[in-house]
Amino acid sequence: MKRFVKIAACALLFAALAQAQSPSAGAKAGEVWNELKGEKLEALQLKGDATRGAQAFQACQGCHRRGANGTNNGAYPRLAGQHATVLIEQITDIRAGRRINPKMAPFADEHVLTTQEIADIAVYLQALPIQYALDDKGAGKALDRGQALYARDCAGCHGDHGQGQANKFVPLIAGQHYGYVLRALATIRDEKRGNANPDMVTAIHSYGKEDLEVVADYISRLTLP
Ligand code: HEC
Ligand code: HEC
Repeated sequence: MKRFVKIAACALLFAALAQAQSPSAGAKAGEVWNELKGEKLEALQLKGDATRGAQAFQACQGCHRRGANGTNNGAYPRLAGQHATVLIEQITDIRAGRRINPKMAPFADEHVLTTQEIADIAVYLQALPIQYALDDKGAGKALDRGQALYARDCAGCHGDHGQGQANKFVPLIAGQHYGYVLRALATIRDEKRGNANPDMVTAIHSYGKEDLEVVADYISRLTLP
């Protein structure tokens, strides 16, 4: 059984390597989104340990909170239940300055967090339960429009339930805090995130303020089946 899990994990990683490397239509010339090399590739290949991850995550709890469900006002995102691949991508991007996050950067510095600890934290967080009760949601107006936009422009990548796709580095977004989702969407649309997926930028580039609000509200109410 253990052997099978290991083989399955390897197969997943190879699938991820193959898919994530293909140049994307929206990428700038000569630029590959989420290129798997250097520390990112190393962390993806390391075997994480959840017990060590819990230990290392103590340094992160001041902001992301114990249990990693973030804060209700959306200042700090939920990390619980996120795919390990996405967590590794984001942490290594933040520390390399590819994702702009000055608040957190000192805590992700290589002097305080090793590559092994990144892999450990990722497997620890991936298995933590999502506490939907803590979620911050939008005003609840025009949820049907939010649903229609989501189905048309987002579900193809993020999935009907907002479950994301581990092997393509598409984040789980179901039940993420409204305030955070809204901010993330605006940052991605306005190309201020740094590491945003170019096809996602294309999907959202024509969204106005209200479109962002209704789709973020819809996402904040999604739950995994
Ligand atoms: C000083 C507060 C702070 C600390 C400490 C902190 N973070 Fe963060 N982190 C943030 C903020 C703020 C964001 C969201 C930034 C934004 O809006 O883009 C974030 C985002 C993230 C993301 C991306 C989430 C996503 O959905 O894309 C990950 C992963 C993450 N943090 C992991 C960690 C880990 C692991 C640690 C500990 C080593 C840590 N953080 C410590 C403030 C912090
Ligand atoms: C082509 C696939 C694709 C499409 C279409 C797409 N996304 Fe994304 N989305 C991604 C990927 C990949 C990321 C992670 C990018 C990164 O930061 O590295 C992402 C990131 C996000 C995030 C940030 C998550 C976090 O934890 O910080 C949100 C929120 C989001 N997408 C919502 C949407 C919405 C809403 C739509 C539809 C309007 C949409 N996406 C369309 C692929 C897609």
